[in-house]
Amino acid sequence: MPSERLSVVVTRRLPEAVETRIKELFDVRLRDDDTPMTRAELSEAVKTADILVPTVTDTIDAALLAGAGPRLKLIANYGVGVDHIDVATARQRGILVSNTPGVLTDDTADMTMALLLAVTRRIPEGLSVMQSGEWGGWAPTALLGGRVGGRRLGILGMGRIGQAVAQRARAFGMQIHYHNRRRLRPEVEDGLEATYWESLDQMVARMDVLSVNCPHTPSTFHLLNARRLKLMKPSAVLVNTSRGEVIDENAMTRMLKAGDIAGAGLDVYEHGMEVSPDLQGLPNVVLLPHMGSATQEGRLEMGEKVIINIKTFADGHRPPDQVVP
Ligand code: DGY
Repeated sequence: MPSERLSVVVTRRLPEAVETRIKELFDVRLRDDDTPMTRAELSEAVKTADILVPTVTDTIDAALLAGAGPRLKLIANYGVGVDHIDVATARQRGILVSNTPGVLTDDTADMTMALLLAVTRRIPEGLSVMQSGEWGGWAPTALLGGRVGGRRLGILGMGRIGQAVAQRARAFGMQIHYHNRRRLRPEVEDGLEATYWESLDQMVARMDVLSVNCPHTPSTFHLLNARRLKLMKPSAVLVNTSRGEVIDENAMTRMLKAGDIAGAGLDVYEHGMEVSPDLQGLPNVVLLPHMGSATQEGRLEMGEKVIINIKTFADGHRPPDQVVP
């Protein structure tokens, strides 16, 4: 029964089962078409709602929050990354922010491995040979990639997703290395057979594959800048399923074009949907449209998390997945 009569605005179409459940529970405004809200629509939403359910495609910055109405008390993000929300300003205005950690860890780690394999084993090139009908049969020298087993994988950001990538990569025989703000507890590090690098520069210089798995924050913006990217081995491959802003995309594109790094598998981009044509045209690059968490199961579970966060808040408690700035 919709007891709370909280007014909830959801900014994007969500899986049907999630929308149905939210409708049962709350006084909700859902989106008719599957496009992001305009800035004007978002402004209206924060003015009138008690609870906003945004996604990564909405920019909830200080200017937008300045126009928030007194009713707005919770931003229950549908997604784990909250770099599109000014959490500090929200907090100053007494607005809580929650996210959906945990439920998309495995899916994102799977996608990281998919990109890693796609680039190192040249899967898109093989696909295109088959689709074009140009296959001339098996040949000893055709489409040779690199063996994944034995390679050094450097994971940048060893949180939930980084650790899930490490588990998978170990099963492929890779050697696991990582850099993280904080070193893992010895028992966790031992369990993953992971080598910790305090110096990111030194790790970057020695890896065969670098995987970005840290969130985008002011301190991780362009963590892989032009200077650091230049430290990579020319045979190395870059994979990013986290946020594009962690890599200086222009510098990376220049290096990929010049063959100063061997390849890249990217699910995310520095400027959102604006992917540079230079990057799109490169044969040693596999590009995906931000689909790391795109499984039926994951997207339902993200919805369940959003609902639990709202329900708990409505019952007078802190949402279990509250994000603290
Ligand atoms: C996440 O959950 O952060 C995904 O990248 C989509 O927002």
